[in-house]
Amino acid sequence: MSDRVSHLLAGLAPSATLAVDAKAKALKAAGEPVIGYGAGEPDFPTPAHIVEAAAKACYDPVNYKYTPTAGIPELREAVAFKSKRDSGLDVAASQVLITNGGKHAVATAFMSVLNPGDEVLIPAPYWTTYPEAVYLTGATPVAVATSAAHGFRVTVEELERARTPKTTMLVFVSPSNPTGAVVAPEDVAAIGRWAAEHNIWVLCDEIYEHLVYGSAQHVSMPVVAPELADRWIVVNGVAKTYAMTGWRVGWMIAAPDVLNAAVNYQSQTTSNISNISQRAAVAALTGDLEAVEMMRHAFDRRRQLMTSMLNDIDGVTCAEPEGAFYAFPDVSALLGRSLGGRVATSSAELATTLLETIKIAVVPGEAFGSPGYFRLSYALGDEDLREGLERWARFVAAG
Ligand SMILES: Cc1ncc(COP(=O)(O)O)c(C=O)c1O
Repeated sequence: MSDRVSHLLAGLAPSATLAVDAKAKALKAAGEPVIGYGAGEPDFPTPAHIVEAAAKACYDPVNYKYTPTAGIPELREAVAFKSKRDSGLDVAASQVLITNGGKHAVATAFMSVLNPGDEVLIPAPYWTTYPEAVYLTGATPVAVATSAAHGFRVTVEELERARTPKTTMLVFVSPSNPTGAVVAPEDVAAIGRWAAEHNIWVLCDEIYEHLVYGSAQHVSMPVVAPELADRWIVVNGVAKTYAMTGWRVGWMIAAPDVLNAAVNYQSQTTSNISNISQRAAVAALTGDLEAVEMMRHAFDRRRQLMTSMLNDIDGVTCAEPEGAFYAFPDVSALLGRSLGGRVATSSAELATTLLETIKIAVVPGEAFGSPGYFRLSYALGDEDLREGLERWARFVAAG
């Protein structure tokens, strides 16, 4: 371990998803015909009315100054309004903290309630950031394996087996990254009741709430499990819903004591989020959901195309995801097989082989606590989506 950097940061893993994306973008910039399935980033431009609100904000000197740490009042109000409109969650604007994206909201939420020694249950496969953000607080991330046969939807039984006297928090995300699993409303309620019974906090990550398909339905846990009282923190953001990944606006909603602690922390670390982005987010949250619906339709079509093309590749099996914009195929049957003169023995090695040979970038399951799988985003254009999977199918067929 280097003595030049802190021991804490020396022990922190880099974001595997951002690393794959960066590598794919660098190869592309160097002229390689790389197709990137790595980043969870819609290929659509941010809707025009949102961009216009930002452009207008650039010319208003009121936006040249610091805002209150917790965010501009209009945006905190808009989050309260949107929470009621979209999921029936009744909150005051004073319970909202505007953060630098949903990821910052997740890290701030952990920082606000966890103490060293606390255990945090994280159903696996999990988004790669959760365990690392828990680690930074001194608490201990505890992965809870879920079963592929049950569509990776965590159950009360699985959680109960992992619970100890030190369990302080559960991370709950539905629709899920990386699996696209959506937990049914009655099961969300049951998990909430279980957490309430054992005095466990729930971090509810609702970033993919609008991206559900078929008969799947998103519900907000505090709404369907009122027993949780005030032991919940909701995190969300504009990135995925409004194609605004680069604008960096998210939020966290919590009880006043927790929110005060979070605002205090933000006041000493980042201060407020960019005014222009906040104004854009107001337009997003108070506007209609027409553009969101258009994008959801496109994702739905690509979801079906990707699932069927993946299942057509010899040695790959993939259940149809119900939400978000990721497919999570099982690639274990390809391990140990000679492909293009190379033999990969792990999904991480296989991902490297695919990038170096047929130039497709995927995130290996190792990044999500589930080796043997890949995560592929289908938030990229139809043509690229098709072309990359055809390359993969041909590669496997050629042996
Ligand atoms: C489950 C989940 N939560 C939160 C985020 C954070 O998104 P952002 O920081 O771009 O708002 C992501 C992004 O990939 C995610 O997948």
